[in-house]
Amino acid sequence: MKILGIETSCDETAISIVGAKGSLEDFSFKVLGSVVNSQIDIHKEYGGVVPNIAKREHQKNLPLVLAEALKIAEIDLSKIDLISVTVGPGLEPALWTGITFAKEISEKWNIPVVGANHMEGHIASVFLTNSKEETSRTIFSLGHKDKALQNDSASFLNIKENKEGKNKFPILALLISGGHTELIFLKNWLEKEKIGETKDDAVGEAFDKVARMLGLPYPGGPEISKLAEEARIKNIKLEKEFPRPMIHSGDFNFSFSGLKTAVLYYLRDKKEINKIAVAREFEDAVIETLISKTKKAISEYQPKTLIIGGGVIANKALRENFLKLKEIYPKIEILIPEKSLTTDNATMIAAAGYLQYLKNENESLETGDLKAQGNLSIN
Ligand code: KG4
Ligand code: ZN
Repeated sequence: MKILGIETSCDETAISIVGAKGSLEDFSFKVLGSVVNSQIDIHKEYGGVVPNIAKREHQKNLPLVLAEALKIAEIDLSKIDLISVTVGPGLEPALWTGITFAKEISEKWNIPVVGANHMEGHIASVFLTNSKEETSRTIFSLGHKDKALQNDSASFLNIKENKEGKNKFPILALLISGGHTELIFLKNWLEKEKIGETKDDAVGEAFDKVARMLGLPYPGGPEISKLAEEARIKNIKLEKEFPRPMIHSGDFNFSFSGLKTAVLYYLRDKKEINKIAVAREFEDAVIETLISKTKKAISEYQPKTLIIGGGVIANKALRENFLKLKEIYPKIEILIPEKSLTTDNATMIAAAGYLQYLKNENESLETGDLKAQGNLSIN
């Protein structure tokens, strides 16, 4: 079946057309066309995402992004079997734009709609591929400052490859994004349990806030990552260690606000700041904390598969450290999304919608029931 995925939970307007087949135990996807329109350039000026600006931009860009995605996939809406739209978690004004758009298409073309959980999308992202780099492009700030569709720098993921989704349950999933940090245990696609989460800031949020303290632009994750890498190459270390929060707490929860404050105090008290050393030490503290909690959850829950999803797993050092866990746990399959699918996109939403559709197969799908749920949880 052909699925139209729509994602507007934060500052990316994204639409993908994904072919999907198989059952909940054995499924596969094929990305036919995908467009991600990032609003980063606009929100940058405010140091973070402004919900009402995000809403306005989504409304403006959704029809353009849809047209472009259909063009890449070389199909029209009459060929779409199912629409999957993010209903939460996320910014409600932003989520509503996608939901309203989905309902309009659904009614006009008589296509059923499912509501997808954005975090389940990040889990599903490991079963997809956009891997042909030459066809993978990102459009930045479509329509902003009179920029027309910028085909040269754009993200049209026009991929003719399949990736198998043979499930090896139980699965442990660590989800790390700008709004979330959580550990989910999945016995199967229907039985999921959140076993730990952050008590304060999400890990991506900590990256963004520390970057801001260092005078780096939003979003801060990639900026910190660059500086930290430079410090490693030059073998430069900070003379001080930042805390590794809650690593001995005995549960599976996280906390990043204390770490952020430790960086703040360090920067306040120090006369000469070596930014690259600070970035490296902060990143090391985050990596050690995430790895340590994940290892604890592995020994307690004995998963067959470990999935790491969400924008923060774009981080190079973090990816390397998680992949190294293979040496300690040779029997566990470790799945990390390819880089183009780590941050928000609609391909993962189409995939999550397909799994949702398979779960509800006997229920009719009512568009009237679709509502934005800013705090939607995975349980
Ligand atoms: O999943 P995502 O695109 O959006 C949310 O659902 O929140 O994640 C965005 C977050 C931002 O906080 C951003 O700074 C972080 O992911 N991020 C990174 C990197 N690339 C993006 N964090 C660390 N290192 C990176 N390379
Ligand atoms: Zn996300």
